[in-house]
Amino acid sequence: MKNILVFASGGGSNVKAILAYFKDRKDVHFPLIVTNNPKAGVIEIAKEHGIDVLLIDKNIFESDIFVDTIDYYKPYLIVLAGFLWKVPEYLIEAYPNKIINIHPALLPKYGGKGMYGKYVHAAVLAHKEKESGITIHLVNERYDEGTILMQKTMKIDKTDTPESLAAKVLTLEHAWYSKVIDTLVGTQVN
Ligand code: GAR
Repeated sequence: MKNILVFASGGGSNVKAILAYFKDRKDVHFPLIVTNNPKAGVIEIAKEHGIDVLLIDKNIFESDIFVDTIDYYKPYLIVLAGFLWKVPEYLIEAYPNKIINIHPALLPKYGGKGMYGKYVHAAVLAHKEKESGITIHLVNERYDEGTILMQKTMKIDKTDTPESLAAKVLTLEHAWYSKVIDTLVGTQVN
């Protein structure tokens, strides 16, 4: 049994897609969702699935005593899905190559601090890019700079707005994040 811990603080649509993908799997377990947002959609989603939720405070997250809590759940993988805080070094050192993130653009462009959600899509459109997409990458000590595991691109229409682009990019995220996670937990995917 491989435990996957999810860190998420937004609407939670990726978490929903991941839980749906793995719902009948006996080899993968989601024991904990960590969030820093008391209004995060994942709280409701976690309740529906009977998954523990931990609402964390920044000081605790940044203190290395938090690693004991994470260790308790014996994660095989830590999956960030709309989690915006920088992952502290102690956690990266404790789980090397075991923390992954999804970013709603084609890194290395449109990444870094402050580049999340609608800000990413607004910047992509402001630069008149012809395509955007998703990047799934390992997390290192710098925002959005870890080794890229996978990218998928999509065309931008002239009529796209940050909202329409966000919706299209989310569709790609939902289609691919679970498959990459599946590959990392060691099961062959189609
Ligand atoms: C997703 O688009 C994800 O790529 C993005 O936040 C959204 C969360 O949506 N993450 C970042 O921008 C990280 N820099 P969700 O809560 O519906 O899964």
